[in-house]
Amino acid sequence: MSDVFRQIKFNDFAPESETFFQDTLKGLSQEQKTLPCKYFYNKTGLSLFNQICKTEEYYPTRTELHIMQFYSQEIAETLGSKCLLIEYGGGNAEKIKLLLNHLTQPACYVPLDISKEHLKQEAEELNRDYPSLEVLPVCADFTKDFQMPDPNSEFNRRVVYFPGSTIGNFNKEQAVALLKNMKRFLSHSDGLLIGVDLKKDKSILDRAYNDAEGFTEAFNLNLLQRINDELGGNFQIDQFEHRAFYNENQDRVEMQLVSRCKQAVDIQDQVFHFEKEEAIQTEFSHKYNAEGFAQMASSANFTLQKNWTDKNKLFSVFYLTLD
Ligand SMILES: C[S@@+](CC[C@H](N)C(=O)[O-])C[C@H]1O[C@@H](n2cnc3c(N)ncnc32)[C@H](O)[C@@H]1O
Repeated sequence: MSDVFRQIKFNDFAPESETFFQDTLKGLSQEQKTLPCKYFYNKTGLSLFNQICKTEEYYPTRTELHIMQFYSQEIAETLGSKCLLIEYGGGNAEKIKLLLNHLTQPACYVPLDISKEHLKQEAEELNRDYPSLEVLPVCADFTKDFQMPDPNSEFNRRVVYFPGSTIGNFNKEQAVALLKNMKRFLSHSDGLLIGVDLKKDKSILDRAYNDAEGFTEAFNLNLLQRINDELGGNFQIDQFEHRAFYNENQDRVEMQLVSRCKQAVDIQDQVFHFEKEEAIQTEFSHKYNAEGFAQMASSANFTLQKNWTDKNKLFSVFYLTLD
């Protein structure tokens, strides 16, 4: 299951392309058509995501980085020395480097991501830049079963680092299930450091997911291109349009791909019919307030210890421990 590249042991539990195919068929066969957002992140998707993060409209990345920088000492003291850090959904080397640069003697770093090539590159970069840090990359779908590697280094505490408000992609029930699942790697004095996007004015959220340069639109449409490239689909990309809006009743941004006309699409020998204006649901991004997040996490037996927020209350970083 694992292979060695340079000094790094790479742990590979990457989903097979058959899984992508089955998930796609299942999602498009439902009455409300859906595609799982975890498949956004191929090479093109990750590069578009990085461009979205730099847009003026998309405030979460720079706000989270600002919080991590501003409270770096306090966060480092809270986590303590010789941490074993497990990062759920890497994808942003700047955030992990900021954290590593402030921690006292971090012992081991386990980046966990579904996107294999990117994970390998990031692990190599960190291995080079932090020679005394043990780096143990794991390619896996973190919603599924996989094995955590055993570190050689001694550590005082395990901390799951889950930045980017990726937790918002899950509804409350799924989020509780994911946090419960995380507990199999953690024991009593261990922690969870997690970045969460907060509820706010609808106009700020609508702008954030509809940037003027069109990176979010390209990111969303790239999912159809990926199905064409990897699964033999024949989506006519220009016959679908990007739509994203804040649904205030559900406290979430909903991202969709909307059919511009009545049409049929083939994926291998399967045919999917679309009405004009019919939407494929591609991503939810749930927003929380501090109380709501602490309450959701407590259903998975995590207790809020501290949280750090920017002055405009756009985003929060929470530190929780197991009861
Ligand atoms: C929204 S990006 C966040 C990137 C970065 N952590 C940040 O803070 O900006 C989501 C990252 O999580 C990864 N990811 C998404 N769903 C995943 C899953 N089910 N299992 C493993 N990795 C996943 C993606 O490949 C991507 O790198």
